[in-house]
Amino acid sequence: MKEKRLSYRTESPEETVQLGQKLGRLLTRGDLVVLAGELGCGKTWFTKGIALGVGVSPREVVTSPSFALMNEYAGDCRLFHMDVYRLETHGTFLDTGLDECFDGRGITVMEWGDKWPEILPVCRLNVAFSILGEQSRELLLTGEHPRIIEILTGLKSGI
Ligand SMILES: Nc1ncnc2c1ncn2[C@@H]1O[C@H](COP(=O)(O)OP(=O)(O)OP(=O)(O)O)[C@@H](O)[C@H]1O
Ligand SMILES: [Mg+2]
Repeated sequence: MKEKRLSYRTESPEETVQLGQKLGRLLTRGDLVVLAGELGCGKTWFTKGIALGVGVSPREVVTSPSFALMNEYAGDCRLFHMDVYRLETHGTFLDTGLDECFDGRGITVMEWGDKWPEILPVCRLNVAFSILGEQSRELLLTGEHPRIIEILTGLKSGI
């Protein structure tokens, strides 16, 4: 399968939220988005945008689930927001049972999920963040599954 790639540059947290919101509008139950990048690169801000795009109320505060491991939001469908930064091995991750979120009950956004690509479904949208400057971030979106290609094509064409 051929990978599709889209690259974006944002110059403020608000721009990152806007991009996340555009993506969120294209997502549906069963989709998995894996966010990768160093501390403070913007993964949680991007997730706030996805939540808005999925129809979660703007009154809901999307915060980092580092301690809870997972927060759940209600939008047009359920949104599971995980942060596996503190989990050391994929064994611990599987022990938590959080991988049940991949079974299609909702949309899953996973911060630091790139730690164990081997346990993730191939049908996942990878987002790799790079810090270019104080307010400047690059977001590289990639995927190879037909469903992910469909999402990326929709995002590019601005539907
Ligand atoms: N273009 C940008 N996009 C996103 N965040 C930005 C941008 N420019 C500056 N920032 C700042 O970078 C920080 C990003 O924080 P955020 O919590 O989203 O990072 P994170 O990747 O989730 O970190 P962690 O790995 O600790 O969970 C915030 O302080 C935000 O104000
Ligand atoms: Mg975060």
